[in-house]
Amino acid sequence: MSNQRIDALSPGTFTFDDQDIEFAPGDTIMQAVTRAGGYIPHLCWRDGLHAHGSCRLCTVKVNGRMGAACTVQASAGQNVESNTEELRTLRRTLLQMLFVEGNHFCPSCEKSGNCRLQATAYEAGMTDPHFEEFYPNRKVDASHPDLLLDLNRCILCEQCVRASRDLDGKNVFAVSGHGVQTRLVVNSPSGLLGDSQIAATDHAAQVCPVGAILPKRRGFVIPIGQRRFDLEPISQTQEGAA
Ligand code: FES
Repeated sequence: MSNQRIDALSPGTFTFDDQDIEFAPGDTIMQAVTRAGGYIPHLCWRDGLHAHGSCRLCTVKVNGRMGAACTVQASAGQNVESNTEELRTLRRTLLQMLFVEGNHFCPSCEKSGNCRLQATAYEAGMTDPHFEEFYPNRKVDASHPDLLLDLNRCILCEQCVRASRDLDGKNVFAVSGHGVQTRLVVNSPSGLLGDSQIAATDHAAQVCPVGAILPKRRGFVIPIGQRRFDLEPISQTQEGAA
C-alpha cells in the first residue's frame, strides 16, 4: 500500500489556503473543508450524493497539481490552494462557458436568488458571458402536474440523476448524447416527466442547483431580492455547503 493511500485512511491535517484542516479517514478535500466551515465553489457536488467530478468548479491545486476537490482524497500534509487569482480566473471561465452553453435569463427565472450558478458567478466576479452565446434549442416539459422541467437551464450536473437513482430508487433521469448534443432525458415511455415515477417530494425534484426542475404553483412566493443568495454571498450561507 502506498504512503499516500495509508495517509488517506488515517485522520490527519492538511493545509487549505494557509489554514489547517482536519480530515477523517476517507474524506475528500471538499468534505473536510466543508465540515470545517470552509467553502470551495461547486455545482455538481452535493453532500449526501456520490461525487460526480464533472463541473470542475471545485478545482484546487494540491501540492501544485490541479484536481477536483470533490474527488481528490484528503491526506496528511497536503498543501491545498483554492483562493488564488489563477483558480478564480479558471472558475470564471468555466462559469462563462456554462452560461453560454445553455439559455440562462436570470431576470425572468423563478430560481433567481436561489440559483447556485448565478450565485457562484456573482461571487466569482463574472460580469459578462465573454464567449458567444449558443442559444441552443431546448425543450420545456410541463407534462407533470406538480413539476416543470426546463432543459434550457440544465447544466448537466446530474444531481437529479444521482438523487433519483441512489436516494429515491426510481432512476427517473439519465444523460444521453455526446458533446453539445448531451441532454438530460427522462426514463418514461413517452420521455415526458408526466409519464415518469417522479413525485414533487422526491429528492430528485429538489436537488436541482439551477432552475431546470421547479415546483409548479410556487412561482415568486419570495420576491426576487429577498432570496437566500440575494441576502448573502453563497460562500457565507449554510447552503454554500449544501
Ligand atoms: Fe467538483 Fe463539480 S463540484 S467537479
